[in-house]
Amino acid sequence: MSATYSQQAPAKINLFLHVTGKRNDGYHLLESLVCFTAAGDVVSGELRNDGKITLAVTGPMADALSNDHTNDNLVVRAARLLQEEANTELGADLILDKRLPVASGIGGGSADAAAAIHLLYDMWNLDLDGDRLSAIALSLGADVPVCLHGKATLMSGIGEKLTELPDLPPLPIVLINPGKPVSTPAIFKAREEDGFSDEGLWNIHTRYESGAALAADLQECGNDLTLAATSILPDICDVLNAMAREEGCLLARMSGSGATCFAIYDTATQAEKAANAIASQHENWWIVPTEIRCEQSQILSNIGAS
Ligand code: C5P
Repeated sequence: MSATYSQQAPAKINLFLHVTGKRNDGYHLLESLVCFTAAGDVVSGELRNDGKITLAVTGPMADALSNDHTNDNLVVRAARLLQEEANTELGADLILDKRLPVASGIGGGSADAAAAIHLLYDMWNLDLDGDRLSAIALSLGADVPVCLHGKATLMSGIGEKLTELPDLPPLPIVLINPGKPVSTPAIFKAREEDGFSDEGLWNIHTRYESGAALAADLQECGNDLTLAATSILPDICDVLNAMAREEGCLLARMSGSGATCFAIYDTATQAEKAANAIASQHENWWIVPTEIRCEQSQILSNIGAS
């Protein structure tokens, strides 16, 4: 029996997200402090020797994905690109355990693609240059390079410039999605008339001793997509208000282009209590108490940030 490989695909959180400009091709220049949570999808798989790539999707959010996994799923696209780049005749039977809501601002699809690259890199015993892996990642989506990196990172450009940060303190958080997907291009379009934030507003050298110290600094740096997202989906305001009302909430904010929001709580107990209290009032919301992961997840040593 062949070995089963498995790779976590952690949810990505934008602790802050500034839109600093727009490129001629329509993509926006961003500056964002990105970190990863213990909650996420899982990609697993077994080796095939005939070069074929198959994908089955399981898990509580599987129904939200199109049935045509063979062509449009980012996991399959990532696998095919890696296969081509490595010029290998090996293939894989992959399983995506979909636990994160789709189109929800926490990088689900990007995290899955990055996890597939990690997994197949191991399974196929590859030796590829980090720059080539990063280029494959970027061609799959602006958030895929940072997901490949997998730890607290200052991300800029459209997502291709990564600057490593000191580890963050343990942060108990709650993730909440109001159960409605939002379109990232629609959110960027809706903020078309808004101005741009300055670059370099975040002091990347600070090492934070506590969640409270980090949250205090984050008050200065918000998510520039929030206004546009709440104008399209007002439920996001309800989520943010519900999170902020609970005891111990240090910061409540939207991640990415929404609609998932996160709140940092002072203690894990408070995060659990908040999640339970909010869940009792909002049956249709996806609510997960979790934590920010500080360590790098089985990261390939040759994928680095400067
Ligand atoms: O690259 P990704 O698939 O994540 O982006 C989806 C869409 O979001 C893009 O087609 C673009 O409209 C918008 N986007 C953007 N600027 C970014 C990232 C995404 O305008 N930096």
